[in-house]
Amino acid sequence: MLKIDKNNLPQHIAIIMDGNGRWAKQHAMGRIRGHKKGAQAVRTAVTACREIGISYLTLFAFSSENWGRPNEEINALMSLLGDYLDKEASTLQKQEIMLTTIGNIERLYPPVKEKLLEVKKLTEHNRKMVLNLALSYGSRDEIIFAIKKMITDNRSGKLDIDDIDNDTVGRYLYTNNIPDPDLLIRTSDEYRISNFLLWQLAYTELYFTDVLWPDFKKDDLLKAIAVYQRRERRFGLTSEQIQNK
Ligand code: IPE
Ligand code: IPE
Ligand code: MG
Repeated sequence: MLKIDKNNLPQHIAIIMDGNGRWAKQHAMGRIRGHKKGAQAVRTAVTACREIGISYLTLFAFSSENWGRPNEEINALMSLLGDYLDKEASTLQKQEIMLTTIGNIERLYPPVKEKLLEVKKLTEHNRKMVLNLALSYGSRDEIIFAIKKMITDNRSGKLDIDDIDNDTVGRYLYTNNIPDPDLLIRTSDEYRISNFLLWQLAYTELYFTDVLWPDFKKDDLLKAIAVYQRRERRFGLTSEQIQNK
């Protein structure tokens, strides 16, 4: 197993879990079988992050644009999410993981939404790791929602325009209580952000791999972390400035 430095872990890892459909095609199966296998890879990734000591894991599970997929596929994804919550609630509890979500969960199928609220409530006092699922999530939607809320609060006297800064905007986003990701992983050899965390990724380290999500294992995660640890995060400063800090 790959060696990583426990003293320089990314505090927050975000993953665009992509490639379920292509995995299925490679194995001469329907897309839904790919999503099933993808759900198993979620279990593996959550446990691995918990073991490694990652504090926040955000998984892009369903985008606002994914609502445009064939109904059959949407139905299957909703029911897989329900299954995942049924089966994993006790494990999340045992591993002391808190479940949170970002996105417009009002749009999720009602029984799935109910389950989600239940598991969030069940796990809300867990402090070992936050598992944050991006569901019916689109970053532009999130930003529009934040702007509207800021305007409303301004009109009601709760928010002064002169007080709006980076932190203020951050507080109006779904990710309010979550630090920006340190590392973004996208699987399946695609090199785009696909409307994910546009504001929050400003200084995130990006890592792309050709591994398809259903094949993503703990070793792949360790590899990504090892690459992250070799990077120098400069945040606009010079290398000398960073090293003298
Ligand atoms: C990612 O896999 C899962 C979701 C977007 C829900 P895809 O379903 O996008 O798989 P590909 O990109 O078609 O291979
Ligand atoms: C991004 O994958 C969304 C999720 C992983 C949930 P997509 O497969 O929807 O992204 P595009 O369409 O290839 O950009
Ligand atoms: Mg895809």
